[in-house]
Amino acid sequence: MLVPLRESLEQARAADRGLAAYNVVHLEHAEALVGAAEDTGLPVVLQVSENAVRFHGSLAPIALATRTLAERATVPVVLHLDHAVSVDLVHEALDLGFTSVMFDGSRLDDATNRSTTREVVARCHDRGVDVEAELGEIGGKDGVHAPGVRTRPEDARQFALDTGVDALAVAVGSSHAMTERTAALDLELVAAIREAVPVPLVLHGSSGVPDEGLVAAVRAGMTKVNIATHLSSVFTAEVRRALAADPDLVDSRKYLAPARAAVRAEAARLLELLALR
Ligand code: G3H
Ligand code: ZN
Repeated sequence: MLVPLRESLEQARAADRGLAAYNVVHLEHAEALVGAAEDTGLPVVLQVSENAVRFHGSLAPIALATRTLAERATVPVVLHLDHAVSVDLVHEALDLGFTSVMFDGSRLDDATNRSTTREVVARCHDRGVDVEAELGEIGGKDGVHAPGVRTRPEDARQFALDTGVDALAVAVGSSHAMTERTAALDLELVAAIREAVPVPLVLHGSSGVPDEGLVAAVRAGMTKVNIATHLSSVFTAEVRRALAADPDLVDSRKYLAPARAAVRAEAARLLELLALR
């Protein structure tokens, strides 16, 4: 069933558990991820990023397919717009039945980020939709999620209070799109931000964090854990294997089916890992 983000986050946080948030780029991902949630009986966030919208050329087709899968799921599923820099895209997501959006104003100057995030929050809350956001870019080529960039607990607290967001993305040592799981998180900082900030925290770039780092991050106070690249690696490795195993293969279902099954298994494993106390 389709559920709001806030409810799932609050339940996860109260139980000191993590909530896995996986990116959907195409239909087979959404099928695999809902399958994983049903296999484990755990809630999941399915997120469509503005980048994925750019790839498809529009939001509605992938969003409506994902929403249909979410509505039919036997477990709670949040439909989330990820890394939206366009306010128009946020408004479109409201009309398409998203239950949550991330407004990413991290590249805006601080005052504009705060005021725009506040406007997005007001508009989304009017429609019963939850909002995740993040503080401004501090430096590094990967912006707020470069490995050396850190969020200060007091800044995070003030940003959450100023904007009224329901969840806050923070920079604690992870970096987007890592293909090796070697990132070391600053767990003391996670705990300090968790203490200072009244809303659940979001870890971006979690693909680069090894299993034990993910568990430790949740124990230290992280709630929503965003994973994209790692599952893409699993999907693509399986496509490669299937194509290499049969050079005469033509039917795309013959390589998409094993790739979808592999993502389902790995997503289920990570759902359970993050739900460990
Ligand atoms: O918003 C999405 C995530 O932060 C995913 O990052 O591809 O490095 O796992 P990742
Ligand atoms: Zn991210």
